[in-house]
Amino acid sequence: MGTDSLSALGMNGQSYSAATTRAWIEVDLGALVRNAATLARHAGVPLLPMVKADAYGLGAVEVTRALESLEPWGYGVGTVDEGVELRSAGITRPIVVFTPLWRGDWPILRAACLTPVLDRADEILEWGATGGGDWQLAVETGMNRAGVPWDAVGELAATLREVPPQGVFTHFYSAERMDGTREVQEARFHAALEALPARPPLIHAENSAGVEHGTSSAYDLVRPGVFLYGVDSGGMDGAEPVVALRARVVELHDIADGETVSYGASWRARGQRRIATLSVGYADGYRRSLSNRGTVMLHGRQAPVAGVVTMDMTMVDVTGIPCEIGDVATLIGSEGPSGPTITIMDLARAAELSPYELLTGLRERLPRIYLTSGAEDLVREASGDPSSAAAAEPEESDRSVRSARARAMERGQ
Ligand SMILES: Cc1ncc(COP(=O)(O)O)c(C=O)c1O
Repeated sequence: MGTDSLSALGMNGQSYSAATTRAWIEVDLGALVRNAATLARHAGVPLLPMVKADAYGLGAVEVTRALESLEPWGYGVGTVDEGVELRSAGITRPIVVFTPLWRGDWPILRAACLTPVLDRADEILEWGATGGGDWQLAVETGMNRAGVPWDAVGELAATLREVPPQGVFTHFYSAERMDGTREVQEARFHAALEALPARPPLIHAENSAGVEHGTSSAYDLVRPGVFLYGVDSGGMDGAEPVVALRARVVELHDIADGETVSYGASWRARGQRRIATLSVGYADGYRRSLSNRGTVMLHGRQAPVAGVVTMDMTMVDVTGIPCEIGDVATLIGSEGPSGPTITIMDLARAAELSPYELLTGLRERLPRIYLTSGAEDLVREASGDPSSAAAAEPEESDRSVRSARARAMERGQ
């Protein structure tokens, strides 16, 4: 077994837990909280962190609990079920569901004390008539996705007087581009705000890029998402990486000149090559478009993906890299604190995907290991079979990862 990389990651044969036998993601909640604090400082107003789509694939409950330490105003989700999940986990702050909802969702929405976003007179009046409660008004200023058109807000004045919103917001579609579209959207938003019968308690607009590329916020809250999870758009100090994706080497094959690898034979060996099979595939979210394009890290070296990524396995060319079955490859992140990093952006570019799509595609099949850098190291394992050895003996698995990181630090990695 390749003890070097395994011990660097603290996962040698004796100590690895059930969560790290195949492929897994590591989520650094310490980095997440620091990213959120950086944005909140820059914006100068409270956060409304977007934790929709299971916190962009990283685990909404764990992410939200970590963000509680910053006392955000509340949280943003995409569906009623996502809000209910947070309520069941004991989150008591406001939770806004940022998509238009069918009325059939209202009973459960109300039961869970979630805040809907509304934009049509008939539904606003019905919301008021059926019991009311906090709601927010979406104003459409250019994305043409959801909300009352900015120049039609005046037509809602009588309705808003009768059933006043708690908040009014819009959403920037290209704030990272600095191409003037944000200014157009802001001007439209301000015109819409002027048309309101009264200023609502909360006004908000900025997403991550809106904060990054702006000065302090002119509104009451900001709604960052992707920056929290480690993806910045170059507007201010970069986001700290939050996610690592790792997988084990489960097979090694020395293949002869002219042999091919994977479905469709799109990769052919030139000379004798060594191929490692990793236990991760597109069913885990390591996308098929990374076939012959992705790169992984093993023992500080880069190994290119060889051939088509398959559902459960991916082959990489490890010729010249000392590598053994059981070794751990890094597909996102770095092998140690100061080593080279494969960022989410790097991988998204290689896969021709948006970083959002890549992140939210990291499937539940991947166990998630939560770390808290900057405080005590491993918090706990969050997913996987609760009856597994890892869950039954959390101290054992905690120790293995903690000692791993300590050892990696000692080695200056
Ligand atoms: C309404 C709304 N606000 C804020 C965000 C967060 O955006 P980002 O992840 O770019 O910060 C989103 C995400 O798509 C959104 O739909």
